[in-house]
Amino acid sequence: AGGEIHLPDTRFSFDGLFGHFDRASAQRGFQVYKEVCSSCHGMHQLSYRNLRDLGLSENEVAGIAATVQVMDGPNDEGQFVERAGRASDRFHAPFPNEKAARAANNGAYPPDLSVIAKAREGGADYLHALLVGYEEPPAGMQLGAGMHYNKYFPGHQIAMPAPLNSDGQVEFHDGTKSTIDQMARDVSQFLTWAAEPELEQRKAMGVKIILFLTVLGGLAYAVKRKVWADVH
Ligand code: HEM
Repeated sequence: AGGEIHLPDTRFSFDGLFGHFDRASAQRGFQVYKEVCSSCHGMHQLSYRNLRDLGLSENEVAGIAATVQVMDGPNDEGQFVERAGRASDRFHAPFPNEKAARAANNGAYPPDLSVIAKAREGGADYLHALLVGYEEPPAGMQLGAGMHYNKYFPGHQIAMPAPLNSDGQVEFHDGTKSTIDQMARDVSQFLTWAAEPELEQRKAMGVKIILFLTVLGGLAYAVKRKVWADVH
């Protein structure tokens, strides 16, 4: 009930014909993901080395990867051994499987965020709205046990507690003020890049195609004028 939810339209650098990623924002967004979201959500389609595309150096990527422990194997003796993560490893998953994830989250499943920006209608606008959309429930509304009210979640009852809940929760290295809104924007930027890293090429190709068709159209028109010039 409640009808259509109206999503606010947040401005992102990747909107529009000439859209591109704001890599500083996406880097901050990765930091938000790493420090906040990754305790519940995996991103199994990403490897640490993909972060090079956001402008992180080889050393930075190796450093980030090395903070996780990975079960590797079997080796020649058929054993699995734990080792520090490498750039080629996939992002570390917070839970070994869905059952464990549900057990830790009151029965709800925190979805993998690799392609969530594409999987949800509204994309980055929705993600941003969801993250800033926590409120007290309207008078008279009974929330289920362990549920939270969110203006923008379909049905308004969500099992995820507000993950971004205080300004300054994450300390950005580039001096950007980490308000809740800023953190929500940055993590939405990061998740959009993760879901569609080829967005910039796609848009650049679109612009080229439009240019090409414009020139071709002009040429066809000029030829038509010439061919039919003598017909009165
Ligand atoms: C669901 C993002 C942090 C637990 C979701 C969804 C998104 C999301 C996009 C899907 C909503 C939908 O289905 O439309 C994020 C981001 C986080 C974050 C960006 C960090 C800023 C967390 C944390 C926890 C958590 C720290 C655990 C304490 C959950 C759960 C669900 C969920 C249990 C399923 C909710 C339901 O279906 O009712 N999250 N999340 N999330 N998240 Fe998070």
